[in-house]
Amino acid sequence: MKSTQPYQPLLLRILHGLTGLFLIVAILTAFWTYDTYDGRWGSIPLPSYKDIEGIHGTFGLYTLLIFPAFVFYAFRRGQRRLIQPDSFTQLIQPGKPIWWYTLNRLTNTFALIALTFALFSGKMMDEKWLPRGELNHAWYYAHLVAWVIMVVAIALHLLMNVKVGGVPLLMSMFNWQFRDKDSPKLWSTHISQWWSSLRQGSWSNWFRSSHSLLMLEIAILISIIAAWIIPLFK
Ligand code: HEM
Ligand code: HEM
Repeated sequence: MKSTQPYQPLLLRILHGLTGLFLIVAILTAFWTYDTYDGRWGSIPLPSYKDIEGIHGTFGLYTLLIFPAFVFYAFRRGQRRLIQPDSFTQLIQPGKPIWWYTLNRLTNTFALIALTFALFSGKMMDEKWLPRGELNHAWYYAHLVAWVIMVVAIALHLLMNVKVGGVPLLMSMFNWQFRDKDSPKLWSTHISQWWSSLRQGSWSNWFRSSHSLLMLEIAILISIIAAWIIPLFK
Protein backbone atom coordinates (compact mmCIF):
# COMPACT_ATOMS: atom_id res chain seq x y z
CA MET A 1 0.00 0.00 0.00
CA LYS A 2 1.39 3.43 -0.92
CA SER A 3 2.06 5.55 2.18
CA THR A 4 0.60 8.63 0.45
CA GLN A 5 -2.83 7.02 0.42
CA PRO A 6 -5.14 7.99 3.28
CA TYR A 7 -5.26 5.36 5.99
CA GLN A 8 -8.14 4.61 8.36
CA PRO A 9 -7.60 2.71 11.62
CA LEU A 10 -8.87 -0.87 11.38
CA LEU A 11 -11.27 -0.55 14.30
CA LEU A 12 -12.83 2.54 12.69
CA ARG A 13 -13.22 0.70 9.39
CA ILE A 14 -14.93 -2.23 11.12
CA LEU A 15 -17.32 -0.18 13.27
CA HIS A 16 -18.02 2.47 10.62
CA GLY A 17 -18.38 -0.22 7.94
CA LEU A 18 -20.87 -2.33 9.90
CA THR A 19 -22.91 0.70 10.96
CA GLY A 20 -22.92 2.03 7.38
CA LEU A 21 -23.79 -1.35 5.85
CA PHE A 22 -26.71 -2.13 8.17
CA LEU A 23 -27.93 1.44 7.88
CA ILE A 24 -27.91 1.44 4.08
CA VAL A 25 -29.93 -1.82 4.05
CA ALA A 26 -32.30 -0.30 6.66
CA ILE A 27 -32.75 2.79 4.46
CA LEU A 28 -33.49 0.74 1.34
CA THR A 29 -35.88 -1.67 3.08
CA ALA A 30 -37.50 1.35 4.78
CA PHE A 31 -38.31 2.77 1.38
CA TRP A 32 -39.76 -0.54 0.24
CA THR A 33 -41.88 -0.71 3.43
CA TYR A 34 -43.15 2.83 2.75
CA ASP A 35 -43.85 1.86 -0.87
CA THR A 36 -45.79 -1.25 0.17
CA TYR A 37 -47.92 0.27 2.94
CA ASP A 38 -48.03 4.02 2.32
CA GLY A 39 -46.92 5.85 -0.83
CA ARG A 40 -48.71 9.15 -0.07
CA TRP A 41 -45.69 11.22 -1.19
CA GLY A 42 -45.04 9.25 -4.34
CA SER A 43 -44.03 5.69 -5.01
CA ILE A 44 -42.09 3.58 -7.47
CA PRO A 45 -43.41 0.30 -8.91
CA LEU A 46 -41.74 -2.05 -6.42
CA PRO A 47 -43.55 -5.35 -5.79
CA SER A 48 -45.84 -5.15 -2.77
CA TYR A 49 -44.06 -7.31 -0.21
CA LYS A 50 -45.61 -7.42 3.26
CA ASP A 51 -42.67 -9.13 4.99
CA ILE A 52 -40.37 -6.25 4.11
CA GLU A 53 -41.46 -4.48 7.30
CA GLY A 54 -39.94 -7.24 9.46
CA ILE A 55 -36.76 -7.29 7.36
CA HIS A 56 -36.46 -3.53 7.80
CA GLY A 57 -37.00 -3.88 11.55
CA THR A 58 -34.20 -6.48 11.70
CA PHE A 59 -31.65 -4.27 9.91
CA GLY A 60 -32.77 -1.28 11.95
CA LEU A 61 -32.12 -3.38 15.04
CA TYR A 62 -28.65 -4.45 13.82
CA THR A 63 -27.80 -0.78 13.28
CA LEU A 64 -29.04 0.05 16.77
CA LEU A 65 -26.91 -2.73 18.27
CA ILE A 66 -23.63 -1.72 16.61
CA PHE A 67 -24.17 2.05 16.86
CA PRO A 68 -23.14 2.52 20.55
CA ALA A 69 -19.73 0.98 19.81
CA PHE A 70 -19.26 3.34 16.85
CA VAL A 71 -20.37 6.31 18.96
CA PHE A 72 -17.86 5.29 21.61
CA TYR A 73 -15.10 5.17 19.00
CA ALA A 74 -16.07 8.43 17.27
CA PHE A 75 -16.18 10.45 20.50
CA ARG A 76 -12.92 8.98 21.89
CA ARG A 77 -10.32 7.90 19.35
CA GLY A 78 -11.98 9.69 16.45
CA GLN A 79 -12.69 12.89 18.35
CA ARG A 80 -10.66 15.18 16.09
CA ARG A 81 -12.95 14.28 13.19
CA LEU A 82 -16.00 15.67 14.98
CA ILE A 83 -16.87 19.31 15.75
CA GLN A 84 -14.19 21.16 17.73
CA PRO A 85 -14.45 24.06 20.21
CA ASP A 86 -13.07 26.42 17.51
CA SER A 87 -15.34 25.09 14.75
CA PHE A 88 -17.62 28.09 14.91
CA THR A 89 -14.85 30.67 14.38
CA GLN A 90 -13.53 28.60 11.49
CA LEU A 91 -16.95 28.50 9.89
CA ILE A 92 -17.01 32.26 9.52
CA GLN A 93 -13.87 32.16 7.35
CA PRO A 94 -15.34 30.65 4.16
CA GLY A 95 -13.00 29.82 1.33
CA LYS A 96 -10.00 28.88 3.52
CA PRO A 97 -9.04 25.18 3.31
CA ILE A 98 -9.80 24.75 7.02
CA TRP A 99 -13.39 25.75 6.21
CA TRP A 100 -13.98 22.50 4.32
CA TYR A 101 -12.36 20.43 7.07
CA THR A 102 -14.60 22.13 9.59
CA LEU A 103 -17.66 21.48 7.43
CA ASN A 104 -16.57 17.86 7.11
CA ARG A 105 -16.36 17.52 10.89
CA LEU A 106 -19.74 19.16 11.20
CA THR A 107 -21.34 16.74 8.74
CA ASN A 108 -19.71 13.75 10.52
CA THR A 109 -21.28 14.97 13.75
CA PHE A 110 -24.58 15.64 12.01
CA ALA A 111 -24.63 12.04 10.67
CA LEU A 112 -24.35 10.74 14.24
CA ILE A 113 -27.21 12.97 15.44
CA ALA A 114 -29.38 12.04 12.42
CA LEU A 115 -28.84 8.34 13.06
CA THR A 116 -29.70 8.71 16.74
CA PHE A 117 -33.02 10.28 15.75
CA ALA A 118 -33.76 7.58 13.14
CA LEU A 119 -33.01 4.76 15.60
CA PHE A 120 -34.92 6.35 18.47
CA SER A 121 -38.02 7.03 16.36
CA GLY A 122 -37.79 3.46 14.97
CA LYS A 123 -37.96 2.05 18.48
CA MET A 124 -41.09 4.14 19.09
CA MET A 125 -42.82 2.46 16.11
CA ASP A 126 -45.34 -0.33 16.49
CA GLU A 127 -45.13 -3.07 13.89
CA LYS A 128 -48.96 -3.36 13.80
CA TRP A 129 -49.62 0.24 12.67
CA LEU A 130 -48.85 -0.08 8.96
CA PRO A 131 -50.57 -3.49 8.37
CA ARG A 132 -53.69 -1.99 10.04
CA GLY A 133 -53.52 1.05 7.76
CA GLU A 134 -52.84 3.41 10.68
CA LEU A 135 -50.69 5.96 8.88
CA ASN A 136 -51.24 9.00 11.07
CA HIS A 137 -49.27 8.23 14.22
CA ALA A 138 -46.93 11.05 15.27
CA TRP A 139 -44.00 8.64 15.70
CA TYR A 140 -44.57 7.28 12.22
CA TYR A 141 -44.26 10.80 10.79
CA ALA A 142 -41.18 11.40 12.93
CA HIS A 143 -39.67 8.16 11.62
CA LEU A 144 -40.39 9.17 8.01
CA VAL A 145 -38.79 12.58 8.56
CA ALA A 146 -35.79 10.81 10.13
CA TRP A 147 -35.33 8.87 6.87
CA VAL A 148 -35.19 12.09 4.83
CA ILE A 149 -32.76 13.70 7.29
CA MET A 150 -30.58 10.57 7.25
CA VAL A 151 -30.41 10.47 3.45
CA VAL A 152 -29.45 14.18 3.40
CA ALA A 153 -26.84 13.59 6.14
CA ILE A 154 -25.19 10.74 4.21
CA ALA A 155 -25.22 12.73 0.97
CA LEU A 156 -23.53 15.71 2.70
CA HIS A 157 -21.09 13.36 4.45
CA LEU A 158 -20.03 11.82 1.15
CA LEU A 159 -19.82 15.20 -0.59
CA MET A 160 -17.64 16.69 2.16
CA ASN A 161 -15.33 13.68 2.19
CA VAL A 162 -14.94 13.88 -1.58
CA LYS A 163 -14.27 17.61 -1.27
CA VAL A 164 -11.50 17.26 1.33
CA GLY A 165 -9.90 14.02 0.20
CA GLY A 166 -11.37 12.97 -3.14
CA VAL A 167 -12.29 9.43 -4.05
CA PRO A 168 -9.09 7.99 -2.44
CA LEU A 169 -10.38 9.16 0.96
CA LEU A 170 -13.75 7.49 0.37
CA MET A 171 -12.07 4.29 -0.76
CA SER A 172 -9.77 4.29 2.28
CA MET A 173 -12.83 3.29 4.34
CA PHE A 174 -13.25 0.12 2.28
CA ASN A 175 -9.61 -0.97 2.15
CA TRP A 176 -8.92 -4.41 3.63
CA GLN A 177 -5.23 -3.91 4.36
CA PHE A 178 -4.00 -2.76 7.74
CA ARG A 179 -0.73 -1.63 9.28
CA ASP A 180 1.14 -3.87 11.74
CA LYS A 181 0.27 -1.66 14.72
CA ASP A 182 -3.43 -2.15 13.88
CA SER A 183 -3.23 -5.93 13.67
CA PRO A 184 -6.06 -7.79 15.47
CA LYS A 185 -3.29 -9.96 17.00
CA LEU A 186 -2.45 -6.96 19.20
CA TRP A 187 -6.02 -6.35 20.32
CA SER A 188 -5.81 -8.49 23.46
CA THR A 189 -2.61 -6.61 24.48
CA HIS A 190 -4.32 -3.27 23.79
CA ILE A 191 -7.36 -4.26 25.84
CA SER A 192 -5.26 -5.33 28.83
CA GLN A 193 -3.16 -2.12 28.61
CA TRP A 194 -6.35 -0.06 28.42
CA TRP A 195 -7.82 -1.93 31.41
CA SER A 196 -4.75 -1.45 33.58
CA SER A 197 -4.52 2.27 32.73
CA LEU A 198 -8.20 2.57 33.57
CA ARG A 199 -7.54 1.03 36.97
CA GLN A 200 -4.72 3.49 37.52
CA GLY A 201 -7.13 6.39 37.15
CA SER A 202 -7.00 7.21 33.43
CA TRP A 203 -10.81 7.17 33.40
CA SER A 204 -10.65 10.78 34.60
CA ASN A 205 -9.40 11.68 31.08
CA TRP A 206 -12.91 10.87 29.99
CA PHE A 207 -14.06 14.27 31.14
CA ARG A 208 -11.29 16.10 29.29
CA SER A 209 -13.23 16.20 26.00
CA SER A 210 -14.57 19.56 25.04
CA HIS A 211 -17.69 20.36 27.02
CA SER A 212 -20.04 20.37 24.02
CA LEU A 213 -18.72 17.07 22.65
CA LEU A 214 -19.06 15.41 26.03
CA MET A 215 -22.64 16.68 26.34
CA LEU A 216 -23.44 15.42 22.85
CA GLU A 217 -21.94 12.00 23.56
CA ILE A 218 -23.95 11.71 26.77
CA ALA A 219 -27.14 12.85 25.00
CA ILE A 220 -26.68 10.25 22.25
CA LEU A 221 -25.97 7.43 24.71
CA ILE A 222 -28.97 8.40 26.88
CA SER A 223 -31.21 8.44 23.77
CA ILE A 224 -30.05 4.94 22.85
CA ILE A 225 -30.71 3.62 26.37
CA ALA A 226 -34.13 5.35 26.39
CA ALA A 227 -34.93 3.78 23.01
CA TRP A 228 -34.62 0.36 24.65
CA ILE A 229 -36.44 1.22 27.87
CA ILE A 230 -39.44 3.29 26.73
CA PRO A 231 -41.06 0.52 24.59
CA LEU A 232 -41.12 -1.73 27.69
CA PHE A 233 -43.79 0.53 29.20
CA LYS A 234 -46.07 0.65 26.14
C1 HEM B 1 -21.96 4.70 3.01
C2 HEM B 1 -20.89 5.23 2.71
C3 HEM B 1 -19.95 5.99 3.62
C4 HEM B 1 -18.68 6.34 3.22
C5 HEM B 1 -18.02 6.09 1.86
C6 HEM B 1 -18.08 7.06 4.34
C7 HEM B 1 -16.81 7.57 4.32
C8 HEM B 1 -16.15 8.09 5.40
C9 HEM B 1 -14.76 8.47 5.43
C10 HEM B 1 -13.81 8.38 4.23
C11 HEM B 1 -14.46 8.92 6.67
C12 HEM B 1 -13.09 9.38 7.19
C13 HEM B 1 -12.97 10.84 7.04
C14 HEM B 1 -11.58 11.33 7.44
O1 HEM B 1 -10.60 10.57 7.42
O2 HEM B 1 -11.51 12.51 7.80
C15 HEM B 1 -15.68 8.84 7.46
C16 HEM B 1 -15.78 9.18 8.78
C17 HEM B 1 -16.95 9.18 9.49
N1 HEM B 1 -18.20 8.73 9.04
FE1 HEM B 1 -18.58 7.93 7.23
N2 HEM B 1 -18.97 7.14 5.37
C18 HEM B 1 -20.13 6.49 4.99
C19 HEM B 1 -21.26 6.34 5.76
C20 HEM B 1 -21.43 6.86 7.04
C21 HEM B 1 -22.66 6.78 7.80
C22 HEM B 1 -23.93 6.09 7.33
C23 HEM B 1 -22.45 7.41 8.98
C24 HEM B 1 -23.51 7.59 10.03
C25 HEM B 1 -23.41 7.56 11.23
C26 HEM B 1 -21.07 7.89 8.98
C27 HEM B 1 -20.45 8.59 10.01
C28 HEM B 1 -19.11 8.92 10.06
C29 HEM B 1 -18.44 9.53 11.20
C30 HEM B 1 -19.10 9.93 12.52
C31 HEM B 1 -17.09 9.67 10.84
C32 HEM B 1 -15.97 10.20 11.73
C33 HEM B 1 -15.38 9.02 12.47
C34 HEM B 1 -14.40 9.44 13.54
O3 HEM B 1 -14.79 10.23 14.41
O4 HEM B 1 -13.27 8.96 13.49
N3 HEM B 1 -20.48 7.54 7.78
N4 HEM B 1 -16.69 8.32 6.67
C1 HEM C 1 -32.75 6.01 8.26
C2 HEM C 1 -33.84 5.38 8.18
C3 HEM C 1 -34.38 4.39 9.17
C4 HEM C 1 -33.75 3.71 10.20
C5 HEM C 1 -32.30 3.78 10.65
C6 HEM C 1 -34.76 2.90 10.85
C7 HEM C 1 -34.54 2.12 11.97
C8 HEM C 1 -35.53 1.41 12.63
C9 HEM C 1 -35.37 0.73 13.90
C10 HEM C 1 -34.10 0.72 14.74
C11 HEM C 1 -36.53 0.14 14.20
C12 HEM C 1 -36.84 -0.69 15.46
C13 HEM C 1 -36.66 -2.16 15.19
C14 HEM C 1 -37.01 -3.04 16.37
O1 HEM C 1 -37.33 -2.54 17.46
O2 HEM C 1 -36.97 -4.27 16.21
C15 HEM C 1 -37.46 0.44 13.12
C16 HEM C 1 -38.76 0.01 13.08
C17 HEM C 1 -39.63 0.30 12.07
N1 HEM C 1 -39.40 1.13 10.98
FE1 HEM C 1 -37.69 2.07 10.56
N2 HEM C 1 -35.95 3.06 10.18
C18 HEM C 1 -35.77 3.98 9.16
C19 HEM C 1 -36.73 4.46 8.29
C20 HEM C 1 -38.04 3.96 8.18
C21 HEM C 1 -39.04 4.40 7.21
C22 HEM C 1 -38.89 5.50 6.14
C23 HEM C 1 -40.15 3.66 7.40
C24 HEM C 1 -41.42 3.80 6.59
C25 HEM C 1 -42.22 2.88 6.29
C26 HEM C 1 -39.88 2.75 8.51
C27 HEM C 1 -40.75 1.82 9.04
C28 HEM C 1 -40.55 1.12 10.20
C29 HEM C 1 -41.55 0.25 10.80
C30 HEM C 1 -42.93 -0.02 10.26
C31 HEM C 1 -40.97 -0.25 11.97
C32 HEM C 1 -41.62 -1.21 12.97
C33 HEM C 1 -41.30 -2.61 12.52
C34 HEM C 1 -40.58 -3.42 13.52
O3 HEM C 1 -40.28 -2.96 14.63
O4 HEM C 1 -40.25 -4.58 13.16
N3 HEM C 1 -38.57 2.97 8.96
N4 HEM C 1 -36.82 1.22 12.18
